[in-house]
Amino acid sequence: MRIDIVKNKIELGRASANFVSEAVAKKPRMVLGLPTGNTPLLMYKDLVHLHKNGLFDAPQVTTFNLDEYYGLSLRDRQSYAYFMKNMFFKYVEVLESHIPNGLIPKEKVEEYCGSYERLIAASGGLDITVLGIGGDGHIAFNEPGSSFSSRTRLVELSAQTIKDNSEPFIKAKKKMPTLAITMGIATIMESRTIMLLASRKSKADILKRALEGPVTEDVPASILQTHKNVIIIADEEAASKLAKKGR
Ligand code: GLP
Repeated sequence: MRIDIVKNKIELGRASANFVSEAVAKKPRMVLGLPTGNTPLLMYKDLVHLHKNGLFDAPQVTTFNLDEYYGLSLRDRQSYAYFMKNMFFKYVEVLESHIPNGLIPKEKVEEYCGSYERLIAASGGLDITVLGIGGDGHIAFNEPGSSFSSRTRLVELSAQTIKDNSEPFIKAKKKMPTLAITMGIATIMESRTIMLLASRKSKADILKRALEGPVTEDVPASILQTHKNVIIIADEEAASKLAKKGR
């Protein structure tokens, strides 16, 4: 496992954007797994900036988002589809982008999730998956207790995630969904490369548990310790409790 520690969230954005853009330059038909959240925000901004300066292009790239709230549509400002459109896809053209559809009726969700898995496989599998980490150790929306062999599915959000992610919903005076569709842990672990981003002091404890604690389904991100090709980019605050710093 490679751990790169950068000064702050600005450098984290730059380092992660450079990693993605260099990889895409080397393999233009790249398949990317993409996250949402505050942490990757500056990665997208930097990729858009590189693109505007002619330094990043992705016309042959296929993307698969990690997750989506269940019950929100593309037009909902709190949806991850809205986030992706406004932070990235309206600026950077890709070959194909896929985001789990949070409006699939319950009785069709299982079949839909299976088709999301098949699409990933048919595209050649994920080359690089970028992850954030939830305050409870979740990756995508795989909450504590999720099986390491889990696949794309409908999940219930944990009480901590509902608390952590509620702010934009409170501001918009809307009820926050308590369900989501998420790629599974096994799906993510099949990605050839995984890059986990962590920023801010609030992630210091959980990052330490994920990287230096036991590998357990109670801390979904801890499974990354067993992946052959994982790079962690953390800012100094998030990395402040790690015993092993650097590579
Ligand atoms: C959400 C997403 C996760 C993300 C997490 C961390 O719950 N489903 O994929 O990693 O938030 O978000 P933030 O970067 O805002 O702390």
